[in-house]
Amino acid sequence: MTQEAGLNAATLAALIVLIRKHTGISISEKKSILLERRLRPRLQALALDNYHDYLSRLERDVNEVPYFIDMVTTNDTLFFRTPQIWKFFAAQFLPQWTRQHPGECLRIWSAASASGEEVYSIAMLCAEFQRLIKGFHYQILGTDISQSMLATATVGVYAGRSVERVKESHPQLFQKYFSAVAGGVKVSDELKQFVSFSPHNLLSSLRSAKKFDIVFLRNVLIYFDVEHQQKVLANVLHSMKPQARLVVGESDSIGHMNTRYQLELPLVYRINNDMLNDEHLQGAAA
Ligand SMILES: C[S@@+](CC[C@H](N)C(=O)[O-])C[C@H]1O[C@@H](n2cnc3c(N)ncnc32)[C@H](O)[C@@H]1O
Repeated sequence: MTQEAGLNAATLAALIVLIRKHTGISISEKKSILLERRLRPRLQALALDNYHDYLSRLERDVNEVPYFIDMVTTNDTLFFRTPQIWKFFAAQFLPQWTRQHPGECLRIWSAASASGEEVYSIAMLCAEFQRLIKGFHYQILGTDISQSMLATATVGVYAGRSVERVKESHPQLFQKYFSAVAGGVKVSDELKQFVSFSPHNLLSSLRSAKKFDIVFLRNVLIYFDVEHQQKVLANVLHSMKPQARLVVGESDSIGHMNTRYQLELPLVYRINNDMLNDEHLQGAAA
């Protein structure tokens, strides 16, 4: 590509509109260099000379959309990211939930699971809990909009920073649930048997007949504007049981928004069922 073939203002504006349409993500015009850098390999793969031609391709070829989404999403994640959440989950949520729901299967949704580290962190803690509490069952669903992230998550092979960090922070779990393979380490089948991954765009409600007891929606709201944050939070609510918890990331603040979630602990919300009942009553009275 030549220097002149850079991202001009009109193409940039059109790409930003498409990013918002397909993912809900808000990107500022100031991020044009970042966008150029992310899209450049795809232009090269398609032998296109400039970003305008790429835009035309994107507009007429629906099969290009998943590639575009893969490139414009930010997929950073880690095992056991934000330690306080894992303390809450293992020491508080799991014992309490089990006492209140004997014999039931705990249903967990990681709603922007990226390459799967969050899902397998949850799975390790559930597997440990299962060793202590006989009869404890769990199912974890990981969803994401990025197909390439879902593929990585499904394979469950990791290398680099992500692995170094978990090896250091959780040596016993690392020893127990990972084994060396070519190119990195692989998550054990013991964890994988209770985990599944599927594509899902948070801009719509999840098509799942069964509702969840806890939803991890971490480090994704930050990419949306308030309108889309509200939409995503309302969509997620449809998939939660009345007593379910919602766990958000450190950078996701929802307290200022008009939602049915009420803060229980830092980063942990529950549904305000009084509001739900009020609305039902109002609906019934109308
Ligand atoms: C920064 S990662 C967060 C991963 C993990 N939850 C964590 O906290 O470590 C954000 C993820 O949100 C996904 N994402 C962005 N927009 C989405 C949308 N509209 N629907 C579903 N996933 C989306 C991205 O593909 C990315 O994998």
